[in-house]
Order: sequence, then C-alpha cells, then structure tokens
Amino acid sequence: MPIRQHRDWELKESQVTPERVYQNRRSLLKTMGVGGLMAGAVPLLAACEDNTLIVYEKDPSAPLYPVKRNTRYQLDRPETPEKLATTYNNFYEFGSHKNVWRVSQVLPLRPWEVKIDGLVEQPITIGIDELLKKMPLEERLYRFRCVEAWSMAVPWSGFALKALVDLAKPLGSAKYLQMETFHNPTVATGQKQGWYPWPYREGLTLAEATNELAFIATGLYGKPIPKQNGAPLRLAVPWKYGFKSVKSIARFTFTEKQPLTFWEKVNSAEYGFWANVNPKVSHRRWSQATERVLGKAGRVPTQIFNGYGEYVADLYKGMEGERLYS
Ligand code: MTE
Repeated sequence: MPIRQHRDWELKESQVTPERVYQNRRSLLKTMGVGGLMAGAVPLLAACEDNTLIVYEKDPSAPLYPVKRNTRYQLDRPETPEKLATTYNNFYEFGSHKNVWRVSQVLPLRPWEVKIDGLVEQPITIGIDELLKKMPLEERLYRFRCVEAWSMAVPWSGFALKALVDLAKPLGSAKYLQMETFHNPTVATGQKQGWYPWPYREGLTLAEATNELAFIATGLYGKPIPKQNGAPLRLAVPWKYGFKSVKSIARFTFTEKQPLTFWEKVNSAEYGFWANVNPKVSHRRWSQATERVLGKAGRVPTQIFNGYGEYVADLYKGMEGERLYS
C-alpha cells in the first residue's frame, strides 16, 4: 500500500528526482543511496507526476485475495485487460482527466475508518481491516457501463452491500442509504476546486442497496482494489451508470429523505438520482444506444439495465413516472 511518508533519508520535494529518472528505477534508488537495501522489491519508490515522492508499503489486506468466485454472475464478453481498467479512470478528487491513476497514489489508506450512522440502532465506526474480517468476501464478474458511453467487464472482489446493511441494523424509518467519499483536499487536490460539492456523495434506496447485485468492491483482479479504482472500498451497482459507483467510501448514512447526489448538485438536468442504464434514453448531449468496450475496436449495443434486468427490473415497477434512466 502506498502512503506518503517523510523519513530521515527522504529527499526534500525540491530535490526529488525528475520524472524522467522514475523511468529508470535503478537510477532513482542510486540517487537516494538506498539501491542495495531496496533491490528486488517492486515498486517501492516512485516519483509522482507532480514530483512528490511516494513510498509503497504492503497493503495489509493483500493476504485476503484472491477470494472464491461466485459463479452466479457470468460475463457475455471477455474480461477487460487489467492494465486498461486500472489506467483509464474517473476520480475527480484527483483531476478531471482519465489519467488519474498515478496522482491518486498519494491517498493514504491506513488508518481508514468507516462511519455507519443516521437511522440505525447504534452508530458504528469501524476500521477497514476489522470490517473486512466481518464481511463474506467473494469475487464477481460484472459489466460496468459509464454514462460517457464506454464500458468494461471486470472481476471485483468484495461483499454484498446487504451484509453491511445487516451489520448496520437500520431503523424501520430508514428508506435510503447515502454513501460519501473521504474529504482530504491536502492529498486529493481536486477537492480544492470549490465549484464541486465535495465530498462525492451517492445514494440508493434500501431496496436497491439490499438487492443481491449491489456490491462493495474491496478488490480487483484478485488483489486489493487499486487507489484509482476506489480503494479501500467502492460501490459496484452494475445496472446503473458508473457515476453511481462511489469510490473510497468513508461514510454510510441511513436516511428517510432521498440523498442529493454529487452529480445532481453539479448538473441536475443531465444527472439524476436513479441513473439506470437504458439504451433508449439519450443523455442530453449524446446517444446511449451503443458503447465503446475498453480495449475493443467499434461499438456494441447497450442493454437495458446493462443486461441485469432479470435481477433489478422489479425494483422499478409502478415507478414509470420517475426519471429512472438518467
Ligand atoms: N467516485 C468518486 N469518489 N469520485 C469520482 O470522480 N467517478 C465516478 C465513479 N465513482 C467518481 C467516483 C464515475 S463518473 C465513474 S465512470 C466511475 O467511478 C469510474 O470507475 P473506474 O475508474 O473504476 O472505472
């Protein structure tokens, strides 16, 4: 696990090796005078795009993976290559471009406390490693459809969101589950941009949150989930557009009122609460009829509920008047 550390032997930021030297790890280690000590351990040190230095440490959850695959969830297409799924990302906390994987490595993952509060019997604050011990971990292959009309298919590891809801013991008055990302503008410099309503917030109805497909991903490709994909825990709701899948969650709050989500606050004309995938309902600026599969040429047709209608269509029966698909 990479965390930002300052040690006696560490260079000042002004002295940090320029990025071109990062291409040659041996040079970097030699410059720092630690080549012998560190030889063979990969990757232990990296100079980030902004020249900050990152020290990589072992992720304490690494021994948990890989976990057993739940074969109930099958793909209709090949898995997206790991390299693509982990280097083409949306994580506005670290910038509004797709190449955030490197800068997001500054996010510290321990300690990581998860707060569970709101309409529950007893609020809980629990460290991520303690939470992982309590949850039934499994692997699931899910398709993922971004509202920007690209898609991927990946093996998430993690646990059914219902297991966390059960742990929380919501009161009968709870109707929604709101989920919030960490807020730390010192490391996530995107959070210094005041025109965004930080922290990133998403929400589901309790019926959606306890649907068997709703999943909290803590791993990806049989390893702890990388920072750029939402470590140490992120939502995966494959029948909804990808922006619902909030990353790096620090707080779960049970509410009576429908949460106002990040993208609704930014632009409610384009992004709503439900955001279920539907090829027949266009985004205001582009069609949703087809999608570009990461790593493949051409486009494929998009499916209603991203192909998961058999699991979730019933959730929306009788709600035809609602804006369910954007
Ligand atoms: N969660 C947070 N906290 N911040 C974000 O910017 N982007 C969302 C979603 N979750 C986002 C987030 C969007 S728009 C998408 S498409 C997916 O994360 C991208 O997930 P991926 O990078 O793992 O493909």
